[in-house]
Amino acid sequence: MSSLTALSTAMKRLEGKVAIITGGASGIGECTARLFSNHGAKVVIADVQDDLGRAVCESIGPDSAHYVHCNVTKEPDVRDAVDEAVAKHGRLDIMFNNAGVIDKPKPSITDVERGDFARVLDTNVVGPFLGVKHAARAMIRARRGGCIVSTASTASVLGGSATCAYTSAKHAVVGLTKDAAAELGRYGIRVNCVSPFGVATPLASAFVGIGAEEIEELMSAHANLQGVGGPLKAADIAEAVLYLASDEARYVSGLNLVVDGGFTVIGMNLRSASNT
Ligand SMILES: NC(=O)c1ccc[n+]([C@@H]2O[C@H](COP(=O)([O-])OP(=O)(O)OC[C@H]3O[C@@H](n4cnc5c(N)ncnc54)[C@H](O)[C@@H]3O)[C@@H](O)[C@H]2O)c1
Repeated sequence: MSSLTALSTAMKRLEGKVAIITGGASGIGECTARLFSNHGAKVVIADVQDDLGRAVCESIGPDSAHYVHCNVTKEPDVRDAVDEAVAKHGRLDIMFNNAGVIDKPKPSITDVERGDFARVLDTNVVGPFLGVKHAARAMIRARRGGCIVSTASTASVLGGSATCAYTSAKHAVVGLTKDAAAELGRYGIRVNCVSPFGVATPLASAFVGIGAEEIEELMSAHANLQGVGGPLKAADIAEAVLYLASDEARYVSGLNLVVDGGFTVIGMNLRSASNT
């Protein structure tokens, strides 16, 4: 357990809560699942990597975490994941729409295939939409309020740092967040998103074509907050999501919480680096 996590878990901030985390088998989602569990939440990991997802749940502890197969692009899967969480735990307090994909960078928008563009939007926009829809259905019915967080990206506020499809999708996640926050506030449901800068995960490696260590070096070189020591970690994003999901954020809704060490206030272009 890192010193950050040890400090943070001294007070259990999600005791008695139930959370679904899509894309929880790996990367940011996995890290958030572990942190939520440390804070007393029951966690449902919803992913398509079944063996990995089950292994993560096993290591968190079968009383605290369980796995459901859920392809976020398929509405019956998302509906069933929500219904299963409610059936098993009697409630749903937190929906973390985190599953995401990225396409391979192309030299130009003129090289991007329609199918590749649509595939990214399907997972990264339709997925969170279905998550918001079905979580809201369960939360409205239960009349206890709730909290929905989606993972956007610094590509939600910048052009040119990722692919055209990914940038379009992450901008749309912010729109979805604001619209849902406007509607669902009357039910006590808060809706926010979190926008990470680069974190060394399988998704980031697939995009830039380098390993975790090299990604951390690359991102550290571009970070504005080099002085804080070390690169951005999945744990930093998990802490931001914990804040949004906790009662400490009870009046926060419609926010895109950018976690980038100030990168977007400078706006360096990473596309050229990702093509090397
Ligand atoms: N790593 C970064 O640098 C970075 C930066 C900004 C935003 N993000 C976003 O963070 C989120 C998590 O990504 P990560 O970096 O942890 O990558 P990751 O590859 O470690 O995790 C992504 C997870 O999503 C799952 N997934 C993919 N498609 C799915 C689908 N259709 N249904 C269900 N699960 C699916 C994968 O199986 C995987 O477990 C994504 O939304 C990504 O866009 C990542």
